[in-house]
Amino acid sequence: MSTPPTILLVEDEDGLREALTIVLRRAGYEVIESSSSAEGLRMLDRDPVDVVVTDLAMEQPLSGMAVLRHARQFAPGTEVLVMTAFGTIENAVECMRLGAYHYITKPINSEELEMLVAKAVEHQRLVRENRNLRQRVQDAYRFENIIGSSPAMLRLFEQVTRVAALDATVLLDGETGTGKELIAHAIHNKSPRAQRSFVAINCGALPETLLESELFGYVKGAFTGAATNKLGLFEEADGGSFFLDEIASAPLSIQVKLLRVLEEKETRRIGDTRSTKIDVRLIAASNRDLHAEVAAGRFRDDLFYRLNVVSLRLPPLRERREDIPLLAQHFVQKYAGRFHRPTSSVDPAAMKLLVAHAWPGNVRELENVIERAVALGAADRVRVEDLPPDVVGKPGEGPRPEALGAAKSLDEAEREFILECVKRCDGNLARAANDLGIGRTTLWRRLKRYGVQVGPEDSGSSA
Ligand SMILES: Nc1ncnc2c1ncn2[C@@H]1O[C@H](COP(=O)(O)OP(=O)(O)OP(=O)(O)O)[C@@H](O)[C@H]1O
Ligand SMILES: [Mg+2]
Repeated sequence: MSTPPTILLVEDEDGLREALTIVLRRAGYEVIESSSSAEGLRMLDRDPVDVVVTDLAMEQPLSGMAVLRHARQFAPGTEVLVMTAFGTIENAVECMRLGAYHYITKPINSEELEMLVAKAVEHQRLVRENRNLRQRVQDAYRFENIIGSSPAMLRLFEQVTRVAALDATVLLDGETGTGKELIAHAIHNKSPRAQRSFVAINCGALPETLLESELFGYVKGAFTGAATNKLGLFEEADGGSFFLDEIASAPLSIQVKLLRVLEEKETRRIGDTRSTKIDVRLIAASNRDLHAEVAAGRFRDDLFYRLNVVSLRLPPLRERREDIPLLAQHFVQKYAGRFHRPTSSVDPAAMKLLVAHAWPGNVRELENVIERAVALGAADRVRVEDLPPDVVGKPGEGPRPEALGAAKSLDEAEREFILECVKRCDGNLARAANDLGIGRTTLWRRLKRYGVQVGPEDSGSSA
């Protein structure tokens, strides 16, 4: 038997608190007691609590509300039951609106209390299980730390794995914010060079002379200001991988020198007469169409062919909208953790808008939108009002039907994940539930919901 659920009981009336404690302990719960809302808040921060049972009117008429608010904000996995002496339905309704699991009117009927606490515990457990399950599903669609479950991304992950093993030069092309830098890292991390250095430079971020001295280094006295010898990045990357980001921005003079490094496999510092042999795996990225750059005479065709040994295209987000729910959920978790916010999901209306948006800035733009929504939002879900106007769009202009289809895909992903696991366990539900990290009942209910033939809940195996 696992550890008993923990109940935090907040009640200022000593006699009642003691009586309820006895009732709850007898029902098998671990009970921690508090005689004021302030102390209750502290306990809530300190101990993991499954269910809070709080009086509504203590020192002040609505002080239980503070406990409820605090729990909803900082302990989203905890359910709250409110006891109200007034029986005024308004207060009870307000509590429910703030996210209480239920309310009980005084005088407390101990059977009713036990029943509600048992239900709240069960509900809390299901919510937690669902959250774990979501996490598992997400992990299954993760490659390094790159999220994607669309066919296009799964194909890309496969290509990356294959290409990483070869030592070939890779050219990544994709619009801004599609994840080129992440893929470059993944190629390195999956390659035999993973333990060696990964050096990156953004060719668009530096003026020509600085770019040149960064790439190739210089010898002392090569030009005014060259007071010491400087190692070039190519030398620094020796044995590892070198990522040339925004390659299309490299001036033609630098392009000639890059071509030489690629052809000769050696690099020469500015002002030096000797070259150094180097062994680097080159990964280049561009968010401009290099064919067009070549046609316009801004990019050397010989360098292009050298770089374009293997080319991987990163699809824009609007071509793989089914990835948006997983990505959004991933960023919600990332920023909720970073900002210590209780945000745990995106509400369906907001998700529809996210899925429908065109995302010219691709995943980076989506990440920024979620970051802002989590930082500024007041609820434990990202809501429509937390999204910027360009995502919300013109009123009355609904999302496209195809987008609505894609919004369902987190559920679909979960369904596939569960069915796959049941299949792997040869229909043994006990084993599948164990593998999935959820209760048998939860699994059984899911299967029924999916329309899968299952026997009675307590039969050991069938599917
Ligand atoms: N599939 C993904 N999963 C998770 N995060 C992603 C994914 N794709 C992009 N990101 C995130 O989006 C942001 C932009 O990604 P990245 O810097 O790799 O884009 P890029 O293609 O290099 O863009 P640019 O051309 O503007 O340099 C980063 O914060 C990155 O972590
Ligand atoms: Mg980049």
